[in-house]
Amino acid sequence: MALRKNASMFFGIFMLSLVWKALAKLEVNMKDSVEVFLGESARITCMFTGTDSPNEVIVQWYMLNKNKVHSKIYYGNSTSELVDLDGLLTGRINVTMSLNSGEVVLNILNVALEDEREFICKVTHISAGSVNGSTLLKVFASPDHPTIKGEETGISVSDEKPSKIGSCEAQNGYPRPNITWYRDQTPLQNQPGEIKVEPVVTKKSNGLYLVVSDLYLKVAKEDKDALFYCEVSYLVPGGTKMKETNKINIPVHYPSTSVNVWVESPKGLVKEGDTVEVHCRANGNPEPIFTFHLNGIDMESENNVMVMRKVSRQFNSTIMCSALDMETDEEISREAQLSVHFLDHAVLIPEVSHVMFPGENLNATCNALSSLPTHTEWVKNGKRVAEGHTLVLTDAVLNTTGTYVCVVTVPSLAELKTNSSLHVIVQGPPEITEIKEYRKDKSENVVMLHCHARSYQTPVIIWSFSDQSQTVEETLKQTEEGFLSVLTLTVTSDITAYCKASNDQGTTSKSLLIKAVVQTTVSAPSITVSIPVTTAVPTPDKTTVTSPVATEVAPPKRVKKEGSGVIIAVIIICILLLAILGSVLYFLYKKGKIPCGRSGKQDLTKHSKDNIVVEMKSDSTEDAVLLGVNGDNKPPNDQGDKYMDVRQ
Ligand SMILES: *[C@@H]1O[C@H](CO)[C@@H](O)[C@H](O)[C@H]1NC(C)=O
Ligand SMILES: *[C@@H]1O[C@H](CO)[C@@H](O)[C@H](O)[C@H]1NC(C)=O
Ligand SMILES: *[C@@H]1O[C@H](CO)[C@@H](O)[C@H](O)[C@H]1NC(C)=O
Ligand SMILES: *[C@@H]1O[C@H](CO)[C@@H](O)[C@H](O)[C@H]1NC(C)=O
Ligand SMILES: *[C@@H]1O[C@H](CO)[C@@H](O)[C@H](O)[C@H]1NC(C)=O
Ligand SMILES: *[C@@H]1O[C@H](CO)[C@@H](O)[C@H](O)[C@H]1NC(C)=O
Ligand SMILES: *[C@@H]1O[C@H](CO)[C@@H](O)[C@H](O)[C@H]1NC(C)=O
Ligand SMILES: *[C@@H]1O[C@H](CO)[C@@H](O)[C@H](O)[C@H]1NC(C)=O
Repeated sequence: MALRKNASMFFGIFMLSLVWKALAKLEVNMKDSVEVFLGESARITCMFTGTDSPNEVIVQWYMLNKNKVHSKIYYGNSTSELVDLDGLLTGRINVTMSLNSGEVVLNILNVALEDEREFICKVTHISAGSVNGSTLLKVFASPDHPTIKGEETGISVSDEKPSKIGSCEAQNGYPRPNITWYRDQTPLQNQPGEIKVEPVVTKKSNGLYLVVSDLYLKVAKEDKDALFYCEVSYLVPGGTKMKETNKINIPVHYPSTSVNVWVESPKGLVKEGDTVEVHCRANGNPEPIFTFHLNGIDMESENNVMVMRKVSRQFNSTIMCSALDMETDEEISREAQLSVHFLDHAVLIPEVSHVMFPGENLNATCNALSSLPTHTEWVKNGKRVAEGHTLVLTDAVLNTTGTYVCVVTVPSLAELKTNSSLHVIVQGPPEITEIKEYRKDKSENVVMLHCHARSYQTPVIIWSFSDQSQTVEETLKQTEEGFLSVLTLTVTSDITAYCKASNDQGTTSKSLLIKAVVQTTVSAPSITVSIPVTTAVPTPDKTTVTSPVATEVAPPKRVKKEGSGVIIAVIIICILLLAILGSVLYFLYKKGKIPCGRSGKQDLTKHSKDNIVVEMKSDSTEDAVLLGVNGDNKPPNDQGDKYMDVRQ
């Protein structure tokens, strides 16, 4: 039973294997397609199964021509092969066969575009018949880097139809590449009336494609900033690749909607004399034509810049800039105010100079017309003495004299400033501000005396001394505060020095006690004049000294006229003497002691009288000279006479 069962099972298996053998017929397996780059090698594999004796198969390769005609390119069996030598593939193919493993490979070298077609592998077995399979060979060529070219002439936003923006080009691609336009990051697609992308595909003689894509767009103002570029997408074995062009900007023309005008320089406030540069800008593209008007008058300008040299206050007005769009002929304009500031010369009241008497008051005003707030201050000797338009001088004294400069500035425009001066003179007698002695050494008797005086005009300063010593020389110089007279003196006893300053308004005098250090009993102090040259001159009154004060120095005086009192006294004495003589002679004559001869008597009288008169006259002259030197401490002549002396 078991044996019968086993026998029937073996029979079943045998029968199955027979069926299997009958069912396992010859089969060919091939890929649908093989993809390869142009110029590379293609490998088309043909696998066959279903034969016990693979060495008995015959393998034939065909290719499908354009007109669907098969042409044999290869025949081979286990012992020999035959390769098509005349066709397209001559010299570029070989076939490797591993019949035992059922693999046949067709190698195509240096693949050309024409090789893109179907290849058929036909396997034939004597008992199993023949089967075939096919593979499509696909050839690819990557395009060159794509290029982009934008329109250079401006594209107006007012164009009604889409305008050409640019053109992209992809060369030498296979199969045909696609070009996509982008605006910024957004791909552009056809959109009637707005966007038109127009690709033109050309197959070149070498079979590769040239794709040119033109973009037409209705531009908007915003497109002036947009970046346009193209992307080329192309197939490669196993996928898709992309390349991008560089990005371009296109010139968009749009009319201005606003215009702006401003003073470019100077940067701050404008003042008279400045060179003013006015700029005008509009927001359209391209730049419109600018024209400038100042107070309605056409001004010369270059493009958007107008320059005005040396502006004056007449330029203080409205500047108008107009922008004319060349495409639309529309004009828009804008105004700006040009403010030209100024500061006129300061006007002083009183003008230039003013004479005052001590104790008087003066309100001086200083005004400078300006377009801006001003600041006024008064400066005397470099020091600020007042602020504001008015200078109030009250109770004038000598030192009120001076030059008051009114300085007017404009705080907001430092370059604007002016000034004007007022000379104030306070009349009146000089004022002695200081009389002082200076010694090099306290034990010395050489003293330098200073007398300082203020005066509205150069004063005459005269020194004198209590012991009647006469000064012949001193120096006078002008100081900031007034006038200074300096004198050097050797004192031998205590004396008082007097400084007397005079001008046409009067005289002032001050004294100073000078003490001698060593008490000696020398009768008179000697005077040492500060300039040694002049001391050497024997006749000081004749020296030529430049200082006008030097002319004031009293020289030793000679009396030129005899005193009339002296003459009268002399005459009286003579008359008395004559009377005494006459009475004596008469007495003797009466007594008869003198012999009386009429002619002799008369001769004697006449002769003696003449002699006496002559002698007395000469004597009295000498006496008078001595008197003048020693006795008279004040010169008899007045100043006018002295001036006359010098002039002689
Ligand atoms: C192989 O092909 C050649 C030429 O056609 C032929 O002569 C030869 O007999 C074939 N060999 C076999 C084993 O079929
Ligand atoms: C066939 O071509 C392939 C690919 O180019 C090459 O590697 C191979 O050596 C060639 N075989 C023969 C027999 O020429
Ligand atoms: C391939 O086989 C089909 C049938 O399976 C046949 O119609 C066709 O003609 C064969 N092609 C070639 C080239 O032998
Ligand atoms: C090119 O564009 C066509 C149509 O849009 C598309 O079918 C094709 O796949 C594209 N080719 C590539 C390489 O992107
Ligand atoms: C000067 O100005 C003061 C006020 O600043 C005024 O009181 C005075 O009267 C004025 N004097 C003259 C002379 O104008
Ligand atoms: C300039 O003109 C403006 C406006 O008309 C005016 O306010 C200003 O005072 C003027 N300035 C001068 C200096 O004339
Ligand atoms: C002017 O003199 C007066 C007194 O006479 C004095 O008080 C004042 O300080 C002096 N001013 C100057 C600037 O010297
Ligand atoms: C007054 O103006 C003159 C000339 O502009 C200048 O030289 C002088 O320094 C000014 N004086 C003052 C006190 O500002």
